[in-house]
Amino acid sequence: MSNSNPTPAGVDSVVKRSIQRLGRDPDTVLQHLIAVQQTFSFVPSTAVESLVRAIDVTSAQLLAAVDFYAFLSLSPRGDYDILFSDNISDRMLGNQQLMRELCKLLDVVPDRTRADGRVRVGLTSCTGMCDQAPALLVNGFALTRLDEHRVRRIAALVNAGAALPNWPQEFFAVTDHVQRRGLLLDDLQSRDAGVAALLSRGSDAILAEIERAGLRGRGGAGFSTALKWRLCRESANPHRVVVCNADEGEPGTFKDRVLLSSYADLMVEGMTLCAGIVNACDGFIYLRGEYRYLLEHLESVLQRRREQGLLGQAIGGRVGFDFDIRIHLGAGAYICGEESALIESLEGKRGIPRKRPPFPVIKGYLERPTVVNNVETLVAAARIAEHGGAWFRGEGTGQSAGSKLLSVSGDCARPGIYEVPFGTSIAEVLDDCGAWDTQAVQLSGAAGKTLGVDEFQRLLAFEDLPTAGALMIFDQSRDLLDMVCNFADFFTHESCGFCTPCRVGGKLLRDLVAKVAAGQARRDDLAEMRHIANVMRRTSHCGLGHTAPNPVLDTLDKFPAIYASRLRSENDDPAFDLEAALSEARALSGATNAQPKPVPTLDAEV
Ligand SMILES: Cc1cc2nc3c(=O)[nH]c(=O)nc-3n(C[C@H](O)[C@H](O)[C@H](O)COP(=O)(O)O)c2cc1C
Ligand code: SF4
Repeated sequence: MSNSNPTPAGVDSVVKRSIQRLGRDPDTVLQHLIAVQQTFSFVPSTAVESLVRAIDVTSAQLLAAVDFYAFLSLSPRGDYDILFSDNISDRMLGNQQLMRELCKLLDVVPDRTRADGRVRVGLTSCTGMCDQAPALLVNGFALTRLDEHRVRRIAALVNAGAALPNWPQEFFAVTDHVQRRGLLLDDLQSRDAGVAALLSRGSDAILAEIERAGLRGRGGAGFSTALKWRLCRESANPHRVVVCNADEGEPGTFKDRVLLSSYADLMVEGMTLCAGIVNACDGFIYLRGEYRYLLEHLESVLQRRREQGLLGQAIGGRVGFDFDIRIHLGAGAYICGEESALIESLEGKRGIPRKRPPFPVIKGYLERPTVVNNVETLVAAARIAEHGGAWFRGEGTGQSAGSKLLSVSGDCARPGIYEVPFGTSIAEVLDDCGAWDTQAVQLSGAAGKTLGVDEFQRLLAFEDLPTAGALMIFDQSRDLLDMVCNFADFFTHESCGFCTPCRVGGKLLRDLVAKVAAGQARRDDLAEMRHIANVMRRTSHCGLGHTAPNPVLDTLDKFPAIYASRLRSENDDPAFDLEAALSEARALSGATNAQPKPVPTLDAEV
């Protein structure tokens, strides 16, 4: 149980233990803050003071980090910090009703810690459990398949003060749900054949296989993996770094969760291959905070591999092949999936995306050349090293070799993971997962594309529909505006706030979408939405701001009826008559009809 009134000595000892475990480099501060938060359910000011004494950081830096990361807090969140996952797929399965029910049973107001300090209930962005939604996190641990019965039992456990290890373990069960296996998932065994091939054939030969395979990054952008590794290897600075991006925050995406759970050896093998090729000594797995439950499992995989001589000094007996991996936890910030924000976060800072170039392969973690790869990319690299580039190229299309893991959720009979060859159509996936009467598919998460029925013959491939893997299905009974509202809320919440187009534009867009949903919008508002969306796309600093308007623009183009059916007629009384209100105010104050000061607009600020 957490302790919301810790003594300074108690706080100091937690900080000391964390420092003993992870060291006192400034880039460890986020991990220390997470350790403190997990122990006390908040970051007491005494912890900030202890860290400032022990590490070369200022209290301003620490407070800025606490403010930035959603899972850190300066005020106590209670013995049970409960966060309902709030992706549209959770909503479609009733998370809001379940949350209301739990709040009622626990007598709590959402987002406020109960007066006795025991519990707080709130919302969080998608937790990566869409195939077993609705889900929640309790003290950072995922709990799936919520229903009324489970909610009642949770309330009873909280009210009885039961410690989490004494909660029914089936509450925390997370199932892989692999529905279709292919090149990557067919074989659960890890034989470390990729590392063996690297040792016997040499790094040039294995890099050539990755090149021959035509492997492109699976994290979304589709950059050539061989080229990325080559650029890093050719960089002047010899202190290179390999990072596995296991942040998987895109709503609707959960395929990396399954790879981390059941194919972790292959992922680590992929990192080791990369290290052998680019000559890196240091590796990191950046694990999203929502996957905290996987931490011990991943640590044990790393430890076993060290004992097997597959990590650490002289890997596979090769003198000079030294490489080890540390795990850094995220703390609830979607933007930290963006590679330069991830690197900032690895350095213990707020996850604000860097200006690029220079790209991470030239100047990344602590200004060292850094390869950042998605989990699936690394698993694919390990398979290619074992089976060869031609084997991988044998599947897929001209520009999209191999297979793609899809995270399928929403209105279908069999949600889960589908590994399909690139070149598969949306219609084939819908058929496979038992989706009937589909109205729309949201591909690649909130930042992706909304596809209507007339696009279901399109192909999953970089040359047609590139995807990081999320495929959310909406049948004819769904109101797509609910999805648009949910995603607009998501982006507003997850914007890092660094640049105006995204910070302000996202809020304006969210408010306009809400206005449409409330039946208060007019045709002019739709034009304004398009305008704001285009400014965001054109002028935002990073990919989040460029893609955040996608759901609005796509649905305006492809599903205009969801907007048109809610518009106020031009003859209706305005919801708020500004001129009438001003006249009334003038009459009361005796003011003249002076011109108001111009209000800054989004265009003026960018
Ligand atoms: C807002 C945003 C979030 C992202 N989230 C992830 C993520 O969770 N996982 C990921 O692998 N890539 C994510 N990316 C892409 C990464 O920046 C980067 O391109 C990727 O990790 C590179 O790996 P790859 O070449 O193996 O695809 C994100 C990008 C943006 C703009
Ligand atoms: S676009 Fe959004 S997330 Fe990206 S830097 Fe600007 S404010 Fe931050």
